[in-house]
Amino acid sequence: MPSGRTGVGRRARVVHAFSDSEAFGRRLARAAGLGYARVAVHRFPDGESLVRVRAPAGTHAFLVRSLHDPNAKLVETLLAADALRRAGARSVTLVAPYLPYMRQDTVFRAGEPISQRVVGECLGRAFDGVLTLQAHLHRTPRLGDVIRGRARSLSAAPALADWVRRSARGSLVVGPDEESEPWVRAIARAAGTSWVVGTKDRLGDHTVRISFPPLPRAAHAVIVDDIASSGGTLAETAHALRRAGVRRIDALVVHPLFGPGALARVRAAGVRRVLSCDTIPHRTNSIAAAPLMAAALS
Ligand code: R5P
Repeated sequence: MPSGRTGVGRRARVVHAFSDSEAFGRRLARAAGLGYARVAVHRFPDGESLVRVRAPAGTHAFLVRSLHDPNAKLVETLLAADALRRAGARSVTLVAPYLPYMRQDTVFRAGEPISQRVVGECLGRAFDGVLTLQAHLHRTPRLGDVIRGRARSLSAAPALADWVRRSARGSLVVGPDEESEPWVRAIARAAGTSWVVGTKDRLGDHTVRISFPPLPRAAHAVIVDDIASSGGTLAETAHALRRAGVRRIDALVVHPLFGPGALARVRAAGVRRVLSCDTIPHRTNSIAAAPLMAAALS
């Protein structure tokens, strides 16, 4: 049975979190002043999942799960939405600090799906609302274009700008590719510093090529990216910056997916500090996203 009855009582608004998102769920509940309950998952021998939520679930349920490593998690998350409604919730909002499958937003090669739309349609049918942070929206301007209902992707720019202002004053804010330009510009403006973006060619899952226009003189650069997966983008950006004479390089990432060996690769490229938002539990976590997301819930 689900445990973690903390503060559920007869509250109307309750955060329900899977155990792999427990720390984030508790921080969110605390910051938003909501009740908290844990979602339990039983795995059958054949690999199917049985999800159990706290009942009664509260009138408005906020289901928290960061959806990195998404394939099994997506199914369990859809099952939990159904369970919450059957346990009395009149509205169910998914709070996914990291939302997957947003990068496949077009058919890059014949025979591929548009994964962003498939996943977006499932979530839109299951939930009344979806809240996430810095979804990878490139060709799709708004999250609402792929998820019906109340769908919102918050910008991580204020939180990253705050770090640059406090810990890397006067540094050059660097985006690896043209896609990153709007938010790189927003971070640099809010931090009161200059910015530049590169050009990226992806040659494979682990291999990218990055180039820059002539750079402004800078002793200290902060690379910002929404996702770090193989670490290739951060590492190659750092190599390009070093070739251009930048000696001190830090990196800020919103979603630290970091596969095996990825962080070591980034460090070996000469990145001094690697920091991330806590949307995915990782040892680089140092920027809290829960307060931003809690503010959006109210
Ligand atoms: C891609 O467009 C994203 O913004 C990231 O730059 C990318 O996902 C990083 O992946 P990797 O760490 O594998 O280079």
